[in-house]
Amino acid sequence: MFFLVLFLYLPLSYALTCNPNGFRRDCGHVGTQQSDCEQKGCCWSPKGHIPWCFYPNPSTVYVIQDAVQTSLGYEITLVVNDSSVGQAISPLYVNITSETKDRLHVKVFDPKNTRWEIPQNVSSFSNPPSSPPPASQYKVSFAGKGEEFWFAITRKSNGETLFNSSANSNGEFNSLVFEDQYLQIGTQLPSGYNLYGLGEHVCPLRLSSGQTYTLWNFDTATPVNLNLYGSHPFYLELRQSGSAHGVFLRNSNGMDVTLNEESLSYKVIGGILDFYFFLGPQAEAVIQQYHEVIGRPYLPPYWALGFHQSHYGYKNVEALQDVVAQYKSNKLPLDTMWNDIDYMDQYKDFTLDPVNFPEKKMKQFVDELHEDGQHYVVIIDPGIKKQSGYKAYDDGIHAGIFIKDKNNNFFVGKVWPGNTVFPDFFHPAAQQYWQDQIAGFLSILPVDGLWVDMNEISNFCNGECTSDVDFVSDTNEVRNSIYMKQENVGFDPNNPPYAINNQGNHIPLNIKTLDMDAVHYGGVLEYNSHNLFGIMEDTATSIALRILTKKRSFVLSRSTFPGSGVYTAKWTGDNHANFNDLYYSIPGMLNFQMFGIPLVGSDICGFIGDTNAELCARWMQLGAFYPFSRNHNNKGSKSQEPYMFGQQVTDISRKILNVRYSLLPYYYTLFYYASRPVSASNVPAATVTRPLFFEFSDDNNTYGIDKQFMVGSGLLISPVLTQGAASVTAYFPKARWYDFFSKEITSESGAESKTLATPLESIQVHVRGGVIVPMQEPSLTTAASRLNPYQLLVALDSSGMANGSLYLDDGISLNVTRYSLITYTAMSTSGQTTLTSKAQTTVTNDSESAAPPMNTIIVLGVAKKPSTVTANSKPLPSSQVLYNSTSLSLTLSMLALPMESDFTLLWK
Ligand code: NOJ
Repeated sequence: MFFLVLFLYLPLSYALTCNPNGFRRDCGHVGTQQSDCEQKGCCWSPKGHIPWCFYPNPSTVYVIQDAVQTSLGYEITLVVNDSSVGQAISPLYVNITSETKDRLHVKVFDPKNTRWEIPQNVSSFSNPPSSPPPASQYKVSFAGKGEEFWFAITRKSNGETLFNSSANSNGEFNSLVFEDQYLQIGTQLPSGYNLYGLGEHVCPLRLSSGQTYTLWNFDTATPVNLNLYGSHPFYLELRQSGSAHGVFLRNSNGMDVTLNEESLSYKVIGGILDFYFFLGPQAEAVIQQYHEVIGRPYLPPYWALGFHQSHYGYKNVEALQDVVAQYKSNKLPLDTMWNDIDYMDQYKDFTLDPVNFPEKKMKQFVDELHEDGQHYVVIIDPGIKKQSGYKAYDDGIHAGIFIKDKNNNFFVGKVWPGNTVFPDFFHPAAQQYWQDQIAGFLSILPVDGLWVDMNEISNFCNGECTSDVDFVSDTNEVRNSIYMKQENVGFDPNNPPYAINNQGNHIPLNIKTLDMDAVHYGGVLEYNSHNLFGIMEDTATSIALRILTKKRSFVLSRSTFPGSGVYTAKWTGDNHANFNDLYYSIPGMLNFQMFGIPLVGSDICGFIGDTNAELCARWMQLGAFYPFSRNHNNKGSKSQEPYMFGQQVTDISRKILNVRYSLLPYYYTLFYYASRPVSASNVPAATVTRPLFFEFSDDNNTYGIDKQFMVGSGLLISPVLTQGAASVTAYFPKARWYDFFSKEITSESGAESKTLATPLESIQVHVRGGVIVPMQEPSLTTAASRLNPYQLLVALDSSGMANGSLYLDDGISLNVTRYSLITYTAMSTSGQTTLTSKAQTTVTNDSESAAPPMNTIIVLGVAKKPSTVTANSKPLPSSQVLYNSTSLSLTLSMLALPMESDFTLLWK
């Protein structure tokens, strides 16, 4: 049920106190003076913590009127202790549902009036089970009848309180507030907590106390800590015990989440409080449990894992051809060539510039790419130019599917093509409209994927465009001019009573986007659904591509919401060509693993400003390990294809891209696991790259590390992130670690930091003892690489054991007809080691050919040269066995073992 919120907010008139030690709810903004503050009827106290200007402390509280036990939990009725005052909605229901043994659902809502809730088809949610789950990991407690409401969740196994909504003693947050446009709740946290998530922000991986994380989709060039393109109201907390849990607030309204010294508080400006708690206890399990609710990431087409080249400013089709040719002549792997808005006719979606990117030449260019096993992706923006005679505009007007303004006219904003309207993906006819436009374009140019940009929605006017000069980019200027102007005219939807910390400056909600009273189909207000535009466009675009091409889709999106990963990849937006942003790309990538969008990466070599040889070399080295690996930069910035910086950077890039291509079977297998409910070995697996603490949660040295990361459980990447540095200090958690390149042991048992020489030509990559990494000989495209023989890198742990797995399919079909899941196990006993491969293969279409064979196996940590090596009980000739006594590695080559048949190798 959709509805219109009434933008009424009565002045606070009830019994109030100004207690500076009580909870301070922000009533002022940066720069507010005492007189402004008091004029608004608020309290002023420049002593102690911010905000100095705060609303009088409320005198009403929610008390429990009734609590009924149900088969799955509790239904609790709350009422305010004095309903004659204030705006608190009363009664409220609190439904506590035990959904699985690891997942608890707590929903606080208004039982009388339907409020805004995210529709299930936009971002999915769980259905309650039909019967109670078996022994759960958690225990729930709450206040007694007649008492002020609070609830708490405890982990049964160790008694840790994971969430406790009762106000803490130092007044950091108040108990429950539930008004039409202000909802507040919080939890106590242990001091020195380790908390992660709450995106999208550019910030260190571990979030900081004293910081407010605002969730409100906004187009800006990635300032630190401020709200950005997407919103992900999810956090993961790790306790010193090593146990992790997760909290998801399923709410699409703007919100501030403040981390205090010993608490976290949510201040949300609409919707309901719909919480999911995930008990883990491993971090990876928390993420898997979270993805079960929001939707698991999709298995991307294999080619999407290849290398991508893009640039805003490629002038014509010849420029594209030149880039592809240079990659080839420099023997640099390249899977996909991209076009930014330059290819369009006057920046209109679904058109081609007839002069610089003429249809015939473009068609030939794309055909040639395809013949070479390469791909082509173009950008589209949601803004459709307002111009009769332009098909995408006329069709949309005819179908009536554009977003409307408060006067029921189509809402006019401004993006690259000038005045634009925007598709309303809530409209039941919008999917067909969008699909038709994409189909029309595909019939001109068979692109392989779509890049959906500017979908926050970004608008060059602040709200509806009224003149040609509406665009104000400086948020301070905005705050001082527009905001102050509007403040005097009372509350409006762009300035609700509680101003979230939009851009660190509490700017109005419509800055650089739509007005909040813009209306979607069914009366859905922009105010409620703003944060959902990205996911809705991701979904519509991806579904259209899947229907039209009958293959797995590839969509790259800037704005995302929980559930986007079911459909889309993500890049982290407009970063800067500097070492700082090189570093921030790591926490950015790791956050999106948690958020369920594992196919993520940053603009390699930097988007804004000119990069340089050193920075670009370092970024190619790090970016080669991003799940999504694309070099892209801004119009006007210097070209930064890796061959632009001379021989050294070209060689560095070739070397590391070859490493990437050789590791793609491993990456693809990780994507496979992330897309599946439970992994074959029952080990939770939900991420592709992951923070170190995901793998080593009992080692609290890892909790703050975000300059290194893991790929799966087996590879540790420690890049150089400092200008001029020729070494890296890397932390090695408890395990044996091998240098990926030299194959030597770098750390015998870990739990130590080491400073390693890392000149410009190198990056530190280590393999964890105990892991088997499937690989493949690299070629210049994934299409060619996939035809090469496979390899295994077997890194024995100190007891001579290792495990790994490999998933194989055709890499593109929605319904695969031949696929294998192969597990590899190495075991050592009394001087002999066996390596076995066990394949589970399903073939429903015989015409599909089997995978290339396993040809090479490299075993790390073989203490002495074996005297006998057998493959399937037959001795291997010495020409196929090479032992290196310096690195202690054993290489078995020319094996030609079929991938789908089990095999055993033995050496002693
Ligand atoms: C903004 C995007 O973030 C950027 O990647 C792109 O190049 C420009 N829009 C132009 O389309």
